[in-house]
Parts: sequence; C-alpha cells; structure tokens
Amino acid sequence: MRFTVTPSRVHDAIVTVPGDKSISHRALMLGSIAEGQTEVDGFLAGEDCLATLDAMRSLGVAIEQPEPARMSIAGVGLHGLHASESPLDLGNSGTAMRLMAGLLSGQNFDSKLIGDESLTGRPMGRIITPLTQMGARIESQSGNPPLTIRGRGSLKAIEYLLPMASAQVKSAILLAGLFADGQTRVSEPAVTRDHTERMLRSMGVKVESLDGTIQLAGGQRLHGRVLDVPADLSSASFVILAALLAENADIKIRNVGINPTRTGVLDILQSMGADLRLENLRSLGDEPVADIRVRSSGLSGGDVDPSLVSLAIDEFPVLFVAAAAARGKTTFSGIGELRVKESDRISAMAEGMRVLGIEVDETQDGATVHGGRFGGGTVQSHGDHRVAMSLALAGTIATDEVTVEDIDAVDTSFPGFCPLMTGIGVEIRTSKSK
Ligand code: S3P
Repeated sequence: MRFTVTPSRVHDAIVTVPGDKSISHRALMLGSIAEGQTEVDGFLAGEDCLATLDAMRSLGVAIEQPEPARMSIAGVGLHGLHASESPLDLGNSGTAMRLMAGLLSGQNFDSKLIGDESLTGRPMGRIITPLTQMGARIESQSGNPPLTIRGRGSLKAIEYLLPMASAQVKSAILLAGLFADGQTRVSEPAVTRDHTERMLRSMGVKVESLDGTIQLAGGQRLHGRVLDVPADLSSASFVILAALLAENADIKIRNVGINPTRTGVLDILQSMGADLRLENLRSLGDEPVADIRVRSSGLSGGDVDPSLVSLAIDEFPVLFVAAAAARGKTTFSGIGELRVKESDRISAMAEGMRVLGIEVDETQDGATVHGGRFGGGTVQSHGDHRVAMSLALAGTIATDEVTVEDIDAVDTSFPGFCPLMTGIGVEIRTSKSK
C-alpha cells in the first residue's frame, strides 16, 4: 500500500491518539507472569502489541480482549508459563523479541522466536551477551533472529553496564533478573524509558533506581492489578508535527503519556521555537499524563542537544521533517542507534527528504538537515512505520503531491493514522501500490 498526500490545510482540533506501545507490551508480559487478574485499559491494538498478545497466549496464558483497547489477563505467576507448540512470531517488533528473550531465558522449556524481514536484520547480540552471562543458552543466526532459547529453569544475577542506551536491553535483563538468584544490577550510560521499572513496582516488586543503576532481587512475585495505558507520545508527535507545519492550527491531543524519560521530543521542538504547552497534568496509574496543546509555529534550526537523544529516540524521523521546515540548518549528533531501528532511519529519512528537494548531510552517527522547501515526489518508507508517517506529513507543506511507498507497517504502532490525519485536515489517501 502507499500514501498519497497533497498540500493540506491542517485546522484546529481536539484528538486522541492510540495507546502507548511500550507500555502495552509490558502490560501483557507482566500481567501474564503476575498472580491474579490484570485488567488493561487503553491498550494499543497495533500489530506489534498483538504479536506479543499471540505470543503470551501461545505460552499458555488466558487473555481476553473484550474491546480492542481492553485486555483481561489471567496471570499464571512467575513459574506458570508453558512451552509454545509453535515458534513465537514477533512480527516487526524489536521490543517484543528482546523483552520476551529476557522473560523466556528463565523458563524450564525451550522457545523459538522469529520475526519479519526487518526484525530478522536487527541486532540481538546486545541481549544475548548479558543473558548468556546470566546462564541462558541462546542460539541465533550470527547475532540475528531467529533465536532459540534453551530454558534451564534458573539464572544467576549479574551486574551489567549497558554498552548502549537501550530500554529494551535494560528490560530484558530485569525480566531475566526476576528468575535469577540474587540481585541483578543494570547501569545505563544515559537515561532510557523506565516503564518496566514503574510497572514492576506497581505490581509489588521492589526495584531500586539510583544514579543510573537499576537493581532488583530475583524471585519476587508480581500481583495482578488494573493498568491504565496513556496515549502514546510517539504517535502524538505526528499530530504535533502536522500542527507545527500548518499555517494556522491549534490542536489539543488528550491524555498523552509525558513520562520524563520520553519527552525529549517536546524539549527539542521547543528549543526550535515550537509553541507547545502541557495542560491538565495528572497521573494515570503509574505514569504522568497531560493534554498537549500545539500551535503552528515558525521553527529555527540549531544544534540538537545530544543528551536528549535517548529521551527522544523514536522521534527523530519527525524531528528531521521539522528541521527541513525550519530556518537555517539543524545538526543531530549521537543518533547512531537510529541505524538499527525498524530501518536505518538516518539513511531512510535522508534519502526520502533528498528526493523531496531537501539537502541532508549524513555522518555515521548524525545528520545535518538544511531548511528548505519540500517539493513533490515518490519516496520509500523502507518498511518503517515512523519513516512512512513522517515523510507523509512532509507532503502537507510540499509544493506538489508526495507519495510514500510501502506503508503497511504503519499499523504496527498507529492503527487509524489515516482517518485521524484526515480529521485534522491532512489530504491523505491510501491506495494499492502499482
Ligand atoms: C522501546 C525502546 C526503544 C524504542 C522502541 C521501544 C521499549 O528501543 O526505540 O521503539 O519499549 O523499550 P531501544 O531500547 O533499543 O533504544
């Protein structure tokens, strides 16, 4: 499928975007190994999280979905999972594969984890190394999926300094740590999203975080509970972008998660001159939420603070488009991790924006985007949901029609993207690729 976007008049609106992807995955996994019932509200029924749902069901957990955004999980406790009869297909989801690998390393049965072409190309050595140190036995294709995890029932605690800032690797180790003897300690080189730690605590697990080191003792039991999932700030960022680029729009996005480990995108856009405000700040379960108010703004480029990278890790495709619309040049550095996301996002965005007439200089771990005017053209998403949505929104301010090819992956994180964008004035249509 492809998107075609024509120059658009984005207007005032109040919208709600789907639930948080990271929190939805964790709710399914932690609810499954908790004791008692967990009720999830606000769940993201996108393909990535539905892959985790299927996987947990294949491992013997009874999970009902009375409504698309509600899950009712009959937790089986720490030792209640059963071997799956077939490989667990985690589709496009790195989060699902890496966190599941942590969870399954401590089981007393074998599991095979597979994924789509994009996931099969992504590095798993980053979880295999620490999990192997904990005593897990994991077979891979030279560090790539499929993974075969030979469960041995128990693990030993480790102290591990993450070589890269990664919430997925941190979470895989913490989940394995629940099945380990002793205290597992993970230190991170930069702050990454802490949804795992928050949810574990809310389910009764003692998790300590001090000066970048997170620690938990193995064998602690989780207690089922009600979990409310806020709207996903990463999805909200596309609405924010559409409003910022517009001539004159004032949009409110309701109930969005504003966990401080995720809000780098807001800080970076504000430093570029974006008129963004947080209203109605409150807590939803263990996570802070707010309504985000965004007004069309003239943006200016500059050097993006590298200390914000891990706090905005999924929003760089959005930020690249914002940078193209800004006055002057914008330099991103320390973003090498983008090269191992669902696509190589530095090169995918640089290629797409160049096709549309924007000058982009690329380095191994950064890029400089020269502000300019988007022209029309046909660009490739490289099967990456966030690249597809970001390039589509460039079309709202382009001089001519923009077509984005290979957009099926948008449903992994943002089901309903097209109707929601249409509702705020984006002239977007979906059609079959020729
Ligand atoms: C995620 C962590 C990030 C992020 C991904 C979701 C998570 O990946 O890019 O979309 O839910 O833990 P890394 O931890 O690999 O940076």
